[in-house]
Amino acid sequence: MAKFGPEAMREALSNQRVMLVGGGGFIGHNLALELRLYDADVMVIDNLMVNSLIDNVYVEGRQAVQREAYQGFLLDRYRLMRQAKVKLRNADARIYADLAQLFEEYQPTKVVHLSAIASAVDARANPGLCFDLQLITLRNVLELCRQKGSQVNELMFISSSTVYGDFETPTVDESVRPRPRGIYANAKYMGERLVRTYHAQYGLGTSIVRPSALYGERCISRRVSQVFIENALTGKPLLLEGGGDGRLDFTYVKDLVDGMARALAFHPGKGLSETLNLTFGNARTVAELAAVVKSVLPDAILEERPRANDKPIRGTLDTKRAETTVGFKARWPLELGYKRYCEWYVEQWQRAQAEVARNGGFA
Ligand SMILES: NC(=O)c1ccc[n+]([C@@H]2O[C@H](COP(=O)([O-])OP(=O)(O)OC[C@H]3O[C@@H](n4cnc5c(N)ncnc54)[C@H](O)[C@@H]3O)[C@@H](O)[C@H]2O)c1
Repeated sequence: MAKFGPEAMREALSNQRVMLVGGGGFIGHNLALELRLYDADVMVIDNLMVNSLIDNVYVEGRQAVQREAYQGFLLDRYRLMRQAKVKLRNADARIYADLAQLFEEYQPTKVVHLSAIASAVDARANPGLCFDLQLITLRNVLELCRQKGSQVNELMFISSSTVYGDFETPTVDESVRPRPRGIYANAKYMGERLVRTYHAQYGLGTSIVRPSALYGERCISRRVSQVFIENALTGKPLLLEGGGDGRLDFTYVKDLVDGMARALAFHPGKGLSETLNLTFGNARTVAELAAVVKSVLPDAILEERPRANDKPIRGTLDTKRAETTVGFKARWPLELGYKRYCEWYVEQWQRAQAEVARNGGFA
């Protein structure tokens, strides 16, 4: 059996009960589906407050086709999870007693913490909520994992590439000292430090994952990778600040959840606290992202804008540590992964347009 091959992953995961806190979101539902491929038992805990179905109906300024498309993305998350026999509980991880009851019911062997306001811009607009969703939920998860110390062999915390702050070199590895800026990145770094402290003081097996600039099916978080496609579909320009020379380590969610499943499968348990960059591993420019959109939607309008002064300076996250320790190798460059996502998006958009037309323009 190959050391990091699919059989080794199945052997490692098939006897695990994995609880995903904040698992109904974009990354969480994709991870749940990935883990089910290796026969892990999975329970998602989510209070469904971010990108909720109801908000999608009521939020101001959303067009009918957009509403219809997003409604489809959200419902598909739940349908796919149900088909894959993922368990789901609607609960708020800020409430210790509710989470404790679910720990008691499910007896997880691994716990993944994902809940957050997953946007630095939204977190900045609502710092108290950012604090609560990232850190109050993490406090409860850490305490429950500590109390269930004999049973939980790994707590995985989803941090972010933003903990590195402005990159001083084009590439950063995990030995670079984080210099987070802003409430979102600082809350992530505080989370990392708490997780490491629980490892050091209570022997909890932990892993910390740093993703970057994700894109992929059923995301409705409206990051640049999604906004560009929608703008191209609706005749609006794709805005390229400073000519689009800003670089990000864009990562297809399929690569991320493969890396996360590996880090869950091959974590050696209580003795270890590991921090892993999990990205494609090659920063690309926003102009290159726009070029992929244009290859799928040739009428897309590209428009240059002056550079924003306060934009963070980003770059590539080195993924060698993940390669060595868990056999991670990203497989989806923009030209494959983002192109595939763009094509999927166009299909979904056309389906939503047809549905809205059938309903007389209403969604
Ligand atoms: N998407 C990215 O590009 C990216 C990059 C780096 C890090 N991350 C981190 O990954 C994690 C997941 O991101 P995502 O893109 O899936 O975001 P998401 O908003 O789609 O998912 C987060 C989920 O957490 C749930 N949640 C929030 N508060 C909760 C609570 N109190 N109790 C239960 N559930 C709660 C939300 O309802 C939502 O379903 C976040 O921690 C985010 O900061 C995301």
